[in-house]
Amino acid sequence: MTNTTNSPTADVRNDSDQLRFPDGFLWGAATAAYQIEGAANEDGRGPSIWDTFSHTPGRVVEGHTGDVACDHYHRFREDVRLMAELGLKAYRFSIAWPRIQPTGSGPVNQAGLDFYQRLVDELLTYGIEPWVTLYHWDLPQPLEDAGGWPARDTAARFAEYARIVHEALSDRVQYWTTLNEPWCSAFLGYGSGAHAPGRQESVAAVRAAHHLMLGHGLAVQAMRAHRPDRQYGVTLNLYAVSPQTDSAGDADAARRIDGLANRFFLDPILKGAYPEDVVEDLRGVTDFGHVHDGDLEIISSPLSMLGINYYSRYVVAAPSDEQPAEPYWRAPSCWPGSEHIRFVTRGLPVTDMNWEIDAPGLVEVLQRVHREYPPLPLYITENGAAFVDEVVDGEVDDPDRVAYLDAHLRACHEVIRSGVPLRGYFAWSLMDNFEWAWGYTKRFGMVYVDYENQKRIPKSSAKWYAEVIRRNALTAQ
Ligand code: FCB
Repeated sequence: MTNTTNSPTADVRNDSDQLRFPDGFLWGAATAAYQIEGAANEDGRGPSIWDTFSHTPGRVVEGHTGDVACDHYHRFREDVRLMAELGLKAYRFSIAWPRIQPTGSGPVNQAGLDFYQRLVDELLTYGIEPWVTLYHWDLPQPLEDAGGWPARDTAARFAEYARIVHEALSDRVQYWTTLNEPWCSAFLGYGSGAHAPGRQESVAAVRAAHHLMLGHGLAVQAMRAHRPDRQYGVTLNLYAVSPQTDSAGDADAARRIDGLANRFFLDPILKGAYPEDVVEDLRGVTDFGHVHDGDLEIISSPLSMLGINYYSRYVVAAPSDEQPAEPYWRAPSCWPGSEHIRFVTRGLPVTDMNWEIDAPGLVEVLQRVHREYPPLPLYITENGAAFVDEVVDGEVDDPDRVAYLDAHLRACHEVIRSGVPLRGYFAWSLMDNFEWAWGYTKRFGMVYVDYENQKRIPKSSAKWYAEVIRRNALTAQ
């Protein structure tokens, strides 16, 4: 029986030998500007906080920087051809704000904009849907010098930049993501300081989170006013969170970490309010005086979709009795107000990032978002794994990555069958790249990059993924 309704489950079948995805399911791969482009000083690009951070000794493993990265700025045509060979239906990439406005405000650098015009045109030539992320962490350094995301004005600057890019590309680009993972920008950038700009100020981190979301809302409003017929969303990194035991203390630990990691962003953006319990947890950090009347209305501007990045689960516990009396959590933390919570491991297999592999967590996260928030089309905008890859006889065999992707795609299939409108999946990443504070030491790509000569070698995972896309299905086990 054929069913022609729009129901996401309508055309998902469990044939005996395969798990089929809905027709039109958007199969993609993702990257980010600073992680792949290189050409850091070309064609008028200004410095970003990641240029400054990576050039500061001790910040990035082995002193790696994004100066050259995968040299994608010069090799984008070759890279797009690779995408076409893999059969990608969509490509999620980010725009480098410092290429568009080298100082973060003021006049447009046309040469920077032209690069993305060429990239979009190249993608469309091959029938690959361009998916733009406006901010994947590369804040222009002059804006950081003026206060960065903890300063309210940065939100307005972001909306202005969004408008510029949107005006130039929205005739050809349907899908617009404002921010990638504001949790990381705020709490790693200004809390623990593990990411650029490397500040360690709890108050600044909470303010940054707010201004990131405010910038998101302002940008959505500006773009939607210009073109209501495009798709607008944001990408959040969401985690499954579980208590280690069923003790009340561990349950509270899970509430706190779920609160800061997930609900602190989901609630304002999708429900127009901060979660009260998290505001309470943060009382010792800030009185939220930085939240102005009307902000939450802007932040919760209607969206067309939600992007979710999923990598793993947090298992957390209350402080143990053996914990030192002198709080170890004086150390800068990305969990302000909840610094005392312990993160525990369960002994599951891990990736090269030491992240436990937990595909059921993906089911949990997607079903939870669908159940607890206003229904929206959902996309996995990142999912993938780092493993140690080796070139042997010119080939890279990466069965662990294939297994990771396979398990998570099975989870996606299960979610769709349960009625969740999951509309697409972007593997992280198309190719190996600059993995932030880990530099080039962690490889997430389906395509291997030899940084000595910039040679690209599709790994076995790339070939496997191409086959999944071609069949629009996984093999049933
Ligand atoms: C996400 C980032 C992405 C990449 C992956 C591994 O948090 O969005 O740039 O670093 O993790």
